[in-house]
Amino acid sequence: MNILITGGCGFIGSNFVRFVLRERPDATLTNLDKLTYSGNRENLRDLEAGDTRNERYRFVEGDINDAELATQLIAECDAVVHMAAESHVDRSIQDARPFVVTNVLGTQTLLDALQRCEKDRPRDAGPRVFVHVSTDEVFGDLPLDQPDLKFTEDTPIAPNSPYAASKAGSDLLAAAYHHTFGLDVRITNCSNNFGPYQYPEKVIPLFITNLMEGKTVPLYGDGKNVRDWLHVEDHCEAVLAVLERGKAGRRYCIGGNNERSNLELTHQILDAMGLGEDRIQPVADRLGHDRRYAIDATRVRDELGWTPSRSAWPAALDDTVAWYRQNPQWWQPLKAAKA
Ligand SMILES: NC(=O)c1ccc[n+]([C@@H]2O[C@H](COP(=O)([O-])OP(=O)(O)OC[C@H]3O[C@@H](n4cnc5c(N)ncnc54)[C@H](O)[C@@H]3O)[C@@H](O)[C@H]2O)c1
Repeated sequence: MNILITGGCGFIGSNFVRFVLRERPDATLTNLDKLTYSGNRENLRDLEAGDTRNERYRFVEGDINDAELATQLIAECDAVVHMAAESHVDRSIQDARPFVVTNVLGTQTLLDALQRCEKDRPRDAGPRVFVHVSTDEVFGDLPLDQPDLKFTEDTPIAPNSPYAASKAGSDLLAAAYHHTFGLDVRITNCSNNFGPYQYPEKVIPLFITNLMEGKTVPLYGDGKNVRDWLHVEDHCEAVLAVLERGKAGRRYCIGGNNERSNLELTHQILDAMGLGEDRIQPVADRLGHDRRYAIDATRVRDELGWTPSRSAWPAALDDTVAWYRQNPQWWQPLKAAKA
């Protein structure tokens, strides 16, 4: 299978490229990435050059809003895994415009390109599959006091942040292109990811690297907000399962069954690093901060046979702490550039 991945130089994308190259020896990957602030070609540099060069991987620098380039690359592939996005809620609160341009218009540009390419595809080749990788944040939030309530594929779309609204817009476009044009589009809505190569503005790498630098960690509000944490490789495995065994037009909720409050998360990281709670710096809450996300992943389990196997805490979190400890050459330049 020739896969076009968008946003492959980001956190989840770069993990997905490595995962597929390792798990599917017949697959080839083309990575279309604009290299925004969160896209880092270094994440996959070893695949491009030297002894570790991998002939099954190709990098193309470009924008998903470039319709001509998107059409050319989709014409060459059998499947698209669409991960390119503006992905940070706090940035969307500062300026929502890039989120609409990339997440909404960029997705529409890719879907149009897919539609053009499908017209020329020989019937016996089967349709190209388009996996639209989205987030559980499109469902809004859940109350803290009803632990049995979780997001499912039937939960209404009700985003709260500009980021979530732009992803919800892209989900709706993806579903509409399936309904209107019969394209084989599949949507995934995943909970919060953690693991290696996550840009150090997101809470887990931010906290680990701040602590390594001798700084405090900024904890929003009362720290009671809950997220359902999933290891990035479990997410990659689920996306591959949806690509290989999912159904056209179907939505799949992916989660770790691993709900933690931000306060609990902070204590876990402090414990893993042998530090105390004097390093916690309470800060004003994020505007419109969603209280709780939780996923009911019954559909991916029952239909695709997927369950998370790498997300259990504390081991998975300890491994993540160890990765950032062992790779300061990866995150230090990113933090220095941001400062
Ligand atoms: N991180 C999470 O916890 C999480 C959870 C669920 C879903 N998701 C979704 O997964 C996807 C990947 O998230 P991530 O955390 O890896 O994000 P990221 O910010 O680390 O990476 C995004 C990548 O997209 C690229 N990109 C941005 N705009 C582009 C454009 N116009 N054209 C081409 N490339 C562009 C960037 O250069 C970067 O490499 C996103 O769609 C996000 O909404 C993320």
